[in-house]
Amino acid sequence: MENGIKINLKYTGISNNDILKYSEKVKEIHNKLNKSIEKKQEFTGWITWPQLYDKKEYEKIKKIANKVQNDSEVFIVIGIGGSYLGARAVIEALTNKYKKENKVEVLYVGNNLNPNYINEIIDYVSDKEISLNVISKSGKTTESAIAFRIFRNLMENKYGVDGARKRIFITTTKRKGALYKIAMQEKYIKLSVPENIGGRYSVLTPVGLLPMAVTGINIDEIIKGAQSAQEKYNEENLKYNECYKYAVARNILYEREKNIEIFGTYEPKMFYFIEWWKQLFGESEGKNYSGIFPTGVTYTTDLHSLGQYIQEGRRNVFETILNIKNSESDIVLGYDEENLDELNYIAGKNLSYVNKKAMEGTIKAHVDGGVPNIIINVDYLNEKTIGQLIYFFEKACAISGSILGINPFDQPGVEKYKENMFKLLGKYE
Ligand code: PA5
Repeated sequence: MENGIKINLKYTGISNNDILKYSEKVKEIHNKLNKSIEKKQEFTGWITWPQLYDKKEYEKIKKIANKVQNDSEVFIVIGIGGSYLGARAVIEALTNKYKKENKVEVLYVGNNLNPNYINEIIDYVSDKEISLNVISKSGKTTESAIAFRIFRNLMENKYGVDGARKRIFITTTKRKGALYKIAMQEKYIKLSVPENIGGRYSVLTPVGLLPMAVTGINIDEIIKGAQSAQEKYNEENLKYNECYKYAVARNILYEREKNIEIFGTYEPKMFYFIEWWKQLFGESEGKNYSGIFPTGVTYTTDLHSLGQYIQEGRRNVFETILNIKNSESDIVLGYDEENLDELNYIAGKNLSYVNKKAMEGTIKAHVDGGVPNIIINVDYLNEKTIGQLIYFFEKACAISGSILGINPFDQPGVEKYKENMFKLLGKYE
């Protein structure tokens, strides 16, 4: 039996009363968000998406995934930010990268401008059957546009223009943008990013679902998980809403001068989930020269790098630990006659048990050292819980950003570097 996502605030110094003081404010935000869906206002489409998702597009995703599984060894995913991180987070979390049979390998480009990175991939795919999915809501992001120009050319050389057309899939907004125009002109197969869903809230749309489905991930279960979360976290009463409690707790800690949140897990497969979470909160909340700085750690790896700072550095940090209670597999540590490594005291124990004790010991050490810890518990890591977690954090981010008094759905600051880069590249001459 799955218990869903459970939040534990006992290591935060935050009382139930502290949380409930936000009840009215949260109710107000909750109602405003729900009203904005009714009014079809910008960027809140993701709130009801798990239940109202486009069923036709969904079937199309499955068909494309099936075709790619039959004719490709490599699936090249072109995208950056919200048009890439969600898919990668789920794929890395749920697939075994060392098991190659019956699987399509996903490679990611368009998430940087580095020629070495791209050349290595060009080299690697030269003798492989490939398909490509370019994902860009705006259809004009420089990184993904450059990668698409390079890989479209490569595919046309390899398969001919008509052959390439059958292997190139475009995910972009309906009816506008450069990518949309290319798709129409070249008659590429197209999937749509809903207009009212912003990039970093779009992982459950074709943006994330096609790459996931190609790897064999059961997207029905992902959606089911998100649907259950949509229902659960639409509870307006803060007392009964774990997601809203998380949003409030991080704001209380922020008021207590904790302006850096370190999101950590003891599951290395969640590395890209942390990256997705960082982008979700960073782009949503870092505005008006305020906001919690989101960063991440994978333990126990990072106990041997950032651990020292967290234990004894500046006391402006708090941690949010995602505790996945049950491990999918395990290893029992053997007994050694000689015991030269002095490990016999844990002989017979499961490695997951040792990992858990490391977690408990670390939480205690960090809390004793003045670092509040929010613990988010899930029973297992699977399609359903990942669907739940995605929705949980998206909703928490919207509520948290609204408590902070910023618009969690825009990203005006991202334009600044682009203006400078375009000027330096002579775009306007
Ligand atoms: O969350 C966001 O909106 C951004 O991170 C975008 O996803 C990112 O900039 C890529 O944009 P686009 O999908 O338009 O290429």
